[in-house]
Amino acid sequence: MNNEAEKKRVATAQRLRENDDPNESNRPLPWFLFMSLGALAMWGAFYIYSTPSGDNSAYGDQRTVADLRPAVVLAGAAPVVDGKQLFGGKCAACHQATGLGVAGVFPPLSGAEWVLGDEKILSNILLHGINGEMIVKGNKYNGAMPAWNTLSDNELAAVLTYIRSDWGNAAPPIKAETIKSQRELTKARTEPYAGGAAIKPDS
Ligand code: HEC
Repeated sequence: MNNEAEKKRVATAQRLRENDDPNESNRPLPWFLFMSLGALAMWGAFYIYSTPSGDNSAYGDQRTVADLRPAVVLAGAAPVVDGKQLFGGKCAACHQATGLGVAGVFPPLSGAEWVLGDEKILSNILLHGINGEMIVKGNKYNGAMPAWNTLSDNELAAVLTYIRSDWGNAAPPIKAETIKSQRELTKARTEPYAGGAAIKPDS
């Protein structure tokens, strides 16, 4: 018998007797977990779809839109506007928080005759702007102030009342009705006033 052939045969038989190398089989998600995730996602979609959005405070912390608005104090009263805050946002860049303006460029509001004087003329300056020569506290200015007619009657009244009462100024407040009637009286005007001499109470 061929010795070589016998050796090979034995070797193969030994190999065949061996088990396969162990390996890890894959384990899919248990089906019930898979189903519950699906159900949860569907329930979520349904919940979002079926929950009313909009203003229904029953689904929130019970506050309504009205509660979130800044204080409206008296029933029927117009919203309270903070004149100082408006001044800070709209006017202080030029007239400065001190109301002193910038010498030669932006006139002062503190102690200014225009601010403390006729309320109609003051309202008109704000409603239409001014861009010609004007004398303020003895100094000549020739700049350009934009119109502020996009502010509401309440807002203009609040900011004017504020500039008439800070920095040592003590002129009576300006009412929203005054702004309203000045807006109406001067509605034909489309240009800013051409300087201090051009401002009239009613046009
Ligand atoms: C872009 C700069 C600028 C802003 C912003 C501005 N003003 Fe003026 N304002 C001027 C200039 C310039 C004059 C002088 C115009 C002229 O020389 O004809 C003036 C004039 C005035 C006057 C009359 C002169 C005086 O000093 O009394 C008043 C009152 C006034 N502004 C109030 C306001 C108020 C209130 C606001 C905010 C709502 C405001 N201004 C925002 C530049 C500005």
